[in-house]
Amino acid sequence: MISTHQIRCTGCAVSIPGERIPANFRCADCGSLFEVVYPWSAGSNTGSTSVSLPNPSALRWLWQERRTSSLAIDQSGVWRFRDLLPIVENDHITTLREGNTPLYELPRAAKSLGIHWILAKHQGMNPTGSFKDTGMTAALSVAVSRGFQWVACASTGNTSAAMAAYAARAGLRSIVFIPDGKIAWGKLSQSMDYGALTVQLRTDFDGCVKMVNKLVMTHPIYLLNSVNPYRLEGQKTPAFELLEQMDWQVPEHVIVPGGNLANSSALAKGFAEMKQLGLIPRIPRISIIQAAGANPLYRSMMENGGEELTPVKADTRATAIRIGNPASWRKAVAALKSTGGWCEEVSEQEIALAKAQIGAEGIGCEPASAVTLAGLKKLVADGRVGTEERAVLILTGHTLKDSDYTIKYHRGELLTASEEAEANPAERALHMQLRRPPMVLDANLDTILRTLDEQMAVPV
Ligand code: F0G
Repeated sequence: MISTHQIRCTGCAVSIPGERIPANFRCADCGSLFEVVYPWSAGSNTGSTSVSLPNPSALRWLWQERRTSSLAIDQSGVWRFRDLLPIVENDHITTLREGNTPLYELPRAAKSLGIHWILAKHQGMNPTGSFKDTGMTAALSVAVSRGFQWVACASTGNTSAAMAAYAARAGLRSIVFIPDGKIAWGKLSQSMDYGALTVQLRTDFDGCVKMVNKLVMTHPIYLLNSVNPYRLEGQKTPAFELLEQMDWQVPEHVIVPGGNLANSSALAKGFAEMKQLGLIPRIPRISIIQAAGANPLYRSMMENGGEELTPVKADTRATAIRIGNPASWRKAVAALKSTGGWCEEVSEQEIALAKAQIGAEGIGCEPASAVTLAGLKKLVADGRVGTEERAVLILTGHTLKDSDYTIKYHRGELLTASEEAEANPAERALHMQLRRPPMVLDANLDTILRTLDEQMAVPV
């Protein structure tokens, strides 16, 4: 195919053709990560004079038109935007019709925060139940185009589920490294169901990353962690879809969970490219929320403004973001700085409450996604998000990914007494109101009616 992109080092800015990227996706000179650049990217030197840049009105029209097409790549909510990610030939694309995820309002959560509206872009509504599908279709398709037979990743569960599914669709073999005992069962079951070689290592996520990085340097195995810059090309497309869903009105805030810290920069790249092309006049602030038990970026921003990052020993029940040494932290700092967003941390009690609130809106999400609402509360409380401003939460995973967590919460078995005690009176009242433990009754109409009467007397 005509080379429409280059790979640029985010550290020393050296540009190389995509095919020459090292197997661990780190610059051989400075060790930094790469990004994909196109003629329309800021600071690009990919020869824009010979390429006509996409026209904003034509793009908007084309993207809408493709919605009515029966072609798989048009039905995909990633490849519908392929004009802005020309990284593979169409016939190498492996798609499960990812993307096209709903944008919901959260009116009750907005009311309880005292702001006009909160929106949730539910990336958990992707084929394998998480936002990882949008990135995986992109990077897996590159693996196919480069002739790989094997792909691998280290994961807290969602990347592995997505990789296993897309590899199976493409007829490739996949190897998954996951931390033993520290991922949700739903996710573990997916990688087995989709036929991956599933390896539970007696270490944490950060230990799994070390192993997979060594493996790909010595074997012809394509790495599909988010250090792979092609993943981020897919993960930037929800930014396009969001703006389309908002009739091209730019929200003031986008809030994402932070784990290995790649997604924030993917979305920031999507918004920046739209601005560069004249599709939008400005970009939203992107804020990143971490669990307090896995908060290396939060600490780095507080202690040294994102200059250095000291890894932490991570621990949180939001296992998807149980990460102490995030690979893409420098990209995340750049996203925070370029968009003017903030990094916040939230406690286990705050995450559990926010998750229950999102569930009570009839939407639901996995614990890692709920940090967004918990973090938004902090941004609203001190005025960083104003009453009239629009905040979009990126809900990254489906509620069924971690049903154990939900069941424990509603049975009152999730939080420790000291975590419960951290709740302020308003939070305590909300917990009381939202908890819906299952009731076991005799199969007797009188008993059932008596219970119903009691329940109906409780104000909602
Ligand atoms: N939310 C969910 C549900 C996730 O699975 C992840 C990451 C994140 C948020 C954080 O995104 O890493 O780009 O900052 N999960 C990875 C995995 C690490 O292996 O599935 P990030």
